[in-house]
Amino acid sequence: MKKAIIIGGTSGIGRGLAEKLVDNNWLVGITGRRTKLLEEVKEKSNNQILILEHDVTEIDSSDVKLDSLFRKLKNVDLVIVSSGISELNQALEWEIENRVIQTNVNGIAKVYEFVFSKFKEQTYGHLVGISSIASIRGNRYCPSYSASKAFQTNYLEALRCMAKNEKLNIKITDVQPGFVDTPMAKGDGLFWVAPVSKAVDQIYSAILKKKRKVYITKRWRLIAMIMKLAPAWLLEKM
Ligand SMILES: NC(=O)c1ccc[n+]([C@@H]2O[C@H](COP(=O)([O-])OP(=O)(O)OC[C@H]3O[C@@H](n4cnc5c(N)ncnc54)[C@H](OP(=O)(O)O)[C@@H]3O)[C@@H](O)[C@H]2O)c1
Repeated sequence: MKKAIIIGGTSGIGRGLAEKLVDNNWLVGITGRRTKLLEEVKEKSNNQILILEHDVTEIDSSDVKLDSLFRKLKNVDLVIVSSGISELNQALEWEIENRVIQTNVNGIAKVYEFVFSKFKEQTYGHLVGISSIASIRGNRYCPSYSASKAFQTNYLEALRCMAKNEKLNIKITDVQPGFVDTPMAKGDGLFWVAPVSKAVDQIYSAILKKKRKVYITKRWRLIAMIMKLAPAWLLEKM
């Protein structure tokens, strides 16, 4: 039986992926801060899910807590890092900017670093990070969010290069969703909002293929291409 850990499995994409993996006979550990939701997901899975209360921003205790879950599962084939927060913040309120940075940058980097080290130790593994299409360009509605997702994307690429260079049997996938129908999808003007089930099916398929990068849903590849090509003056007008 394959084993996976999902960081941020209490809701949205992470929760959907946990359910998908269980349906496909994986043994799954999930983490998150909301213990009630952790219990709820566990009960609905016929106890095929192990749970761990874990806040990615508590950097000092992060490794010890995650290690306890790794030990329970013994060895882990796949870790999906879905935890994240997003805030619209054109007012640049520092409390909000800082919270996003502490979670999406410091917290997630600590998890990536820990997981990569564990995979090195056990000599194999597949790390999947859920970044965002927002990683491609700076976004004036949510500066810290778009910047934090660019950080994640670059970090994942660096780890992939490191694994390849050191000839490690470690695969890295960067998942870049557009809009998915979860509590996180906020603001006006949302379009091509995918149901969680559709996003989860496409992410699961990319995981099985061990893709380097995948846009969710597939048609967001077109938006990614346009965003990459858009001149600065056009971005400034939007
Ligand atoms: N939905 C979209 O349109 C969209 C688009 C692009 C990218 N994404 C990315 O997809 C990922 C999943 O988001 P979602 O849409 O599924 O939203 P969601 O339903 O709000 O899920 C966010 C998850 O992150 C966890 N989390 C938040 N802060 C945490 C912390 N300090 N420590 C540990 N876990 C924490 C939450 O668990 P607890 O609250 O229980 O801790 C929850 O499980 C995020 O990284 C997001 O940036 C989403």
